[in-house]
Amino acid sequence: MDKTLLAKTAAAMVAKGRGVLAADESSATCETRFKTINTACTEENRRAYRGLLFTTPGVEKFISGVILFDETTRQKTDDGAVFTDYLAKKGILPGIKVDTGAKNLALCPGEKVTEGLDGLRERLAAYFKAGCRFAKWRAVITIGEDPTLPSHTCLYANAHALARYAALCQEASIVPMIEPEVLLDGAHSIERCEEVTEAALRASYAAMAAHNVSIEHLILKTSMVVSGKTNARQAGVDEVAERTLRVLKRTVPAAQPGIVFLSGGQSDVSATAHLSAMAASKSLPWPLTFSYSRALQNPALNTWKGQSGNVAAAQRAFHHRAHMNSLAAEGKWKPELEKQVA
Ligand code: 13P
Repeated sequence: MDKTLLAKTAAAMVAKGRGVLAADESSATCETRFKTINTACTEENRRAYRGLLFTTPGVEKFISGVILFDETTRQKTDDGAVFTDYLAKKGILPGIKVDTGAKNLALCPGEKVTEGLDGLRERLAAYFKAGCRFAKWRAVITIGEDPTLPSHTCLYANAHALARYAALCQEASIVPMIEPEVLLDGAHSIERCEEVTEAALRASYAAMAAHNVSIEHLILKTSMVVSGKTNARQAGVDEVAERTLRVLKRTVPAAQPGIVFLSGGQSDVSATAHLSAMAASKSLPWPLTFSYSRALQNPALNTWKGQSGNVAAAQRAFHHRAHMNSLAAEGKWKPELEKQVA
């Protein structure tokens, strides 16, 4: 466990005006995304698309790290550079998704637990050798119509797995990014989302303490406190920011080097607006930034459409979203800036 390296990596991930690109969609999720642009989900198309994102000129100004999927660590740019080496040379930290997905939690209908602990120590050692300096593990918490969901069992099973993963990462000198995601799907109120997010974070940090995870070498990737997708009352930007910050202040130790957000199915501009409102808040104990997949990639994917002739335009679209989110991470984004050409 190289604490100096862990501290350096964690600080770089959340450096001022920079955030993390999540490009760790599994091949199954890629298939879903590529279907929307009528593009075959072949290994070559996944490589070409990831290459488009990573080689976007100037994007390193806004992107501190990229979360990769296992396959991507062995792929190369059009010019033959291994992606992990290419990114590191550009000053972007390669990261890796190490969980193997959310599976049905036994005896808890409708709930999931994330798997992937078996053999993780060995996989982390190999990823470190390949240049990966941080890792991600996503737990999925569903707010059910049944008021007893999420269950205590689900929250604690996921928190336990997150803590065992985080401890293994730190042992391997890889910064763990723990992601207890409370899904926004459902008709629940924002008040209920706030309660569940608080419970999920409390369970996660209790587990971190129980497993001796060093808070100084840990990054939280969290969902925001938002209204359920089909709830009639959709909370505005200020309310989302206020409720999310209240929960984070209650639960996340000040010793932690930073917090990043997932976008979770919010619109691209909402994800940016919410981050900016929170980051503009004074005297927070930790830097806040983005770690979006969809909210960073949507315009690029929809411009690319699987056609090599669209690569330059898709890169401009990606650069623009990365720029907007970089401004948001400093609390400096304004809606008018969206109209400016990338
Ligand atoms: P979204 O921003 O699309 O929610 O993805 C972030 C992520 O990495 C989920 O694990």
